[in-house]
Order: sequence, then C-alpha cells, then structure tokens
Amino acid sequence: MTQKGIIRGMTKEDVDSVYEIEKLSFSVPWSKESFLEEAENSYAIYFVYEEDSKVWGFAGMHHIVDEGHITNIAVHPEKRRQGIGKALLCALISYAKENGLIGLTLEVRSKNIPAISLYKSFGFKEAGLRKNYYTNPPDDAIIMWLYLKNLKT
Ligand SMILES: CC(C)(COP(=O)(O)OP(=O)(O)OC[C@H]1O[C@@H](n2cnc3c(N)ncnc32)[C@H](O)[C@@H]1OP(=O)(O)O)[C@@H](O)C(=O)NCCC(=O)NCCS
Repeated sequence: MTQKGIIRGMTKEDVDSVYEIEKLSFSVPWSKESFLEEAENSYAIYFVYEEDSKVWGFAGMHHIVDEGHITNIAVHPEKRRQGIGKALLCALISYAKENGLIGLTLEVRSKNIPAISLYKSFGFKEAGLRKNYYTNPPDDAIIMWLYLKNLKT
C-alpha cells in the first residue's frame, strides 16, 4: 500500500518525471509541453504520488463547471499493484466532493482491464461507447461516469 509516500498537487518541477511515466504507460503519450500547460491551467487539477523524493504516479482532471473530466492517470510500471492508482483516484474524488462537483467522467480503452477494474472498484459505471476512438492500437472508448450527487434532487 501507499503508507510510505504522499499525494500532493503537481507542480511544473514534476513534469519531467510525469512525462517519463506517461511515456512508459501509453502507446500515444501526451507531450511534455502538454503537461507544462496543464501545470498552469487553472481548470486542471493534477496530483502526484511521491515516495523517496521521486514521483511514481500522477492523475489529473479538468474541472468544467460542475463536472470533473479525468484526463489521465498512470503509475510507474515498477510500482503498480501497490495501491498507488487507488490513492490517486481517491484524491481526485475527494477534490470533486469538496468542490461540489456532480460527478466525474472519463474515457478508457475497452481493452484496458486494469484501468476499468480500478474505476469500477470506485463505483464508476459504463455510460456509453465511442467506436474506434483510439488508434495505435485501434480500440473503442468506454465512457464512464461516477455520479456524486443525486441529479433528481
Ligand atoms: C491503471 C493503473 C493506473 C492502476 O494503477 P495501480 O497503482 O497499479 O493500481 P492499484 O494498485 O491502486 O489497484 C487498484 C485496483 O485496480 C484494479 N487493477 C489494477 N491493476 C490491475 C490489473 N493488472 N488487472 C486487474 N485489475 C487491476 C484492481 O481492482 C485493483 O484493486 P486490488 O489490487 O485490490 O485488486 C496502472 O495500471 C497504469 O498506470 N496503467 C497504465 C496507464 C493507464 O492505462 N491509465 C488509465 C488510462 S484511462
């Protein structure tokens, strides 16, 4: 589990480490410039997991009116299955609750079983499918939502 490390907000100084994890985690990684822009974007909320003075994982979302759109979450391959992804997602959900968001949404590759399992373990539900959304390799996107407020009340 994650007792040794801390979750904190991402700064520009973290971007080199975040970008390394991004490249190790995705077939079509975001550019370093994109993360530098995110670090200065007032709508973007990013957390990192730091242990032994090193960043091992990150998660981010855009706060759009009363919704949270999760942009990415990744953990260094050497540190997976130790609860870090769970702790990072928990930080995004806590932020969303504290800021009165109605819910969180995201898109995930339909073949990405680790990520889908992680989201489902927090109560995210499948809400739609975008056919052929991804390339390299081709895949559909599953749209998921976690509602934090009862929309009927
Ligand atoms: C998805 C990811 C962030 C999970 O991070 P992690 O630190 O390994 O996850 P955790 O250890 O916190 O696991 C939390 C839960 O996720 C699920 N999970 C994680 N890895 C899994 C795997 N390989 N297979 C099945 N379920 C998995 C499980 O439900 C797990 O709970 P459990 O350990 O009690 O069974 C990580 O696999 C990753 O970085 N993947 C590459 C990037 C990516 O695909 N990001 C998602 C983009 S939408």
